[in-house]
Amino acid sequence: MSKLMSKTTLTTAVVPRLTSQLRPVATALLITHSHYSSPVPVPILRLRPAISVRSFHQSPPLYNNPSSSNNAHQQASTMTLPEFSLKDRVIVVSGGGRGVGLTQAEALLEAGAIVHALDLLPEPTADSEFTQIANKAASLGTCLTYHRVDVRDQPALNTIVAGIADKHGRMDGLIAAAGIQQETPALEYSREDSDKMLGVNVTGVFMTAQAVARQMIRLKTKNGSMVLIGSMSGTVANRGLICPAYNASKAAVIQLARNLAAEWGEHGIRVNTLSPGYIVTAMTAGLFEAFPERKTDWPNANMLGRLSYPHEYRGAAVFLLSDASSFMTGADLRIDGGHCAW
Ligand SMILES: NC(=O)c1ccc[n+]([C@@H]2O[C@H](COP(=O)([O-])OP(=O)(O)OC[C@H]3O[C@@H](n4cnc5c(N)ncnc54)[C@H](O)[C@@H]3O)[C@@H](O)[C@H]2O)c1
Repeated sequence: MSKLMSKTTLTTAVVPRLTSQLRPVATALLITHSHYSSPVPVPILRLRPAISVRSFHQSPPLYNNPSSSNNAHQQASTMTLPEFSLKDRVIVVSGGGRGVGLTQAEALLEAGAIVHALDLLPEPTADSEFTQIANKAASLGTCLTYHRVDVRDQPALNTIVAGIADKHGRMDGLIAAAGIQQETPALEYSREDSDKMLGVNVTGVFMTAQAVARQMIRLKTKNGSMVLIGSMSGTVANRGLICPAYNASKAAVIQLARNLAAEWGEHGIRVNTLSPGYIVTAMTAGLFEAFPERKTDWPNANMLGRLSYPHEYRGAAVFLLSDASSFMTGADLRIDGGHCAW
């Protein structure tokens, strides 16, 4: 990346889809390897030096970010592969207020779904990223609706999800992305913090899936599909990242999905997990500020030598929710830049 480019230009050009909160972080990360970058983002393979020095790479797929395409292109893509269409399907996205959940909600909308986001965050403001995506949904002929709820509040969850099902007369899918993270050594972890971690990341996901499944079964949904957001941290212990309860919670999510798939398969409901590697979101942004060495350590731990961004999970969300994955259930789709394959 040219040293003549300003920091603002970098942010706008390379990470246009991050919230204002994350742009400074992403910009800092990108500047970290500016010594051998080109003026525009280019595919990673053209950037990598011959020697095995790993560095913090930008995210090549922004080049092809589908959300920046025009509607005609999106419609043409759906027509080419109709099994990826989510037209008119009603999908709940927990944790849909920001980060991975919101980015995936946007992808579902572009594929034609009606999306209801559940989140603990305050109601979105008029200038928020959520509202921008809701406006975009309207222009696509669909809609994105916000519901403020704590996924640990089972009665509220059931009321909201039943209301969504009644309103549309259908319930087709779920992405359970609501989650929290905490980095504390095992010897110092309090029972309260452990309970909270498992309460949100496991029981909250479980009760969200249960609320959605009840409506799917009541309405005799055909081809229901759920995606529980796990993590590569549900499969491995992360070197240098000390969060025992978080990793245990994600392992539990991966196992929970297998059991739910086994129980609900007879109702035509598929349940899978999506396990990302490190993603630049609000969840990780604070960690990069507190531990700058992770800007290089984490990318070095995977085969692509970089972190990922939320939009890199868009396709997986549409694939798992749509008929494109109609014979897939009880599976974990790990997308981690090869982190766990080493
Ligand atoms: N960021 C990463 O590196 C990474 C990697 C692997 C997996 N994940 C998982 O992806 C999912 C999304 O994470 P993210 O990175 O977008 O983080 P994020 O913090 O930006 O998003 C999480 C969302 O969940 C919501 N939430 C938290 N507790 C809630 C509760 N009790 N009730 C309702 N909503 C609640 C938050 O308000 C937030 O909007 C999480 O499950 C996370 O564990 C993240």
